[in-house]
Amino acid sequence: MAENLMHALQYNSYGGGAAALKHVEVPIPTPNKGEILLKLEATSLNPIDWKIQKGILRPLLPRKFPHIPASDVAGEVVKVGPGVTNYKVGDKVVSLLDHLTGGGLAEYAVAKENMTVARPPEISVTEAAGLPMAGLTAHQAVTHGAGVKLDGSGQQLNLLITAASGGVGHYAVQLAKLGNTFVTATCGARNLDFVKSLGADEVLDYKTPDGAALKSPSGRKYNVVIHCASGIPWSTFEPNLSSNGKVIDITPGLSAFLTCAVKKLTFSKKKLEPLQLSPKKENLDYLVNLVKGGKLKTVIDSKYPLSKAEEAWAKSIDGHATGKIIVEP
Ligand SMILES: NC(=O)c1ccc[n+]([C@@H]2O[C@H](COP(=O)([O-])OP(=O)(O)OC[C@H]3O[C@@H](n4cnc5c(N)ncnc54)[C@H](OP(=O)(O)O)[C@@H]3O)[C@@H](O)[C@H]2O)c1
Repeated sequence: MAENLMHALQYNSYGGGAAALKHVEVPIPTPNKGEILLKLEATSLNPIDWKIQKGILRPLLPRKFPHIPASDVAGEVVKVGPGVTNYKVGDKVVSLLDHLTGGGLAEYAVAKENMTVARPPEISVTEAAGLPMAGLTAHQAVTHGAGVKLDGSGQQLNLLITAASGGVGHYAVQLAKLGNTFVTATCGARNLDFVKSLGADEVLDYKTPDGAALKSPSGRKYNVVIHCASGIPWSTFEPNLSSNGKVIDITPGLSAFLTCAVKKLTFSKKKLEPLQLSPKKENLDYLVNLVKGGKLKTVIDSKYPLSKAEEAWAKSIDGHATGKIIVEP
């Protein structure tokens, strides 16, 4: 490969799934002001990556075609753009790339200094790459959404975390258990022990009648539901909520927005709040340090080389990952 070219996967239009990802050689990008060029060591996939390809955010994303997808990366700084003060060539970092530009399914990617944190040597590249989108979403849902204090102070909260075996859910369970919480979690039968091992106090198989009804085995009513699955109607949540309980929906569809509006207009004590990730560098740094301190772990579902990234893409679309799917250039 020519010196200024890199291997990447890109798609040229909406739709097409894994088959539409094409292996290409493209120029290595150049970091602009406030940006750094990373030689990627690991990239993790998130459902939003293939949802953007499906067109759920059209016409906003992707900004243009062809598009190199994926945003969660860990790598080594190989070039710094003008005005970059915190990083130098050779630094190991983890970063959330801008969804406007993407770029994670490649050998090199440009990251913004202000969404990049150092990766300590104690953390592997795969543990680090899993963190940005899923870890930050879990952190925002548990702290800002549910109001859990991660130092263990605060009144005890009963939480329900749905899809606790997934990328966001597995971080959410671990983070929630750093606080004063009783955590009920849902997952498939094959992951009951796994989710318990993350710290959940009780676990429900979502394919059983009680699991589908979200009934706490110990009879608890939930103060907060961190809803990482999808397709569960308000009528299923409602009887399981405490008198002023709320559902934080991280994949809100039209009916969730309608429920949210109706609850507000009727001054309902039970609420539904859609969550949109608002990523913050200091929170990513916090998560990296939790991993370093052994208080949080990234569970890896599977790893694929960049040459087989379309298989990782198909696996993510399939929706049955336990933890994070990683692509390694
Ligand atoms: N709002 C935001 O800013 C934001 C940020 C990040 C993610 N999200 C969204 O959050 C959702 C979850 O993301 P993710 O990365 O955690 O997904 P993921 O890793 O693909 O989730 C897969 C897991 O979900 C489990 N699951 C599926 N349906 C379930 C159900 N009804 N009950 C219990 N478990 C179920 C699966 O278990 P089985 O294999 O046993 O079925 C699998 O282990 C996605 O829709 C994503 O787009 C939103």
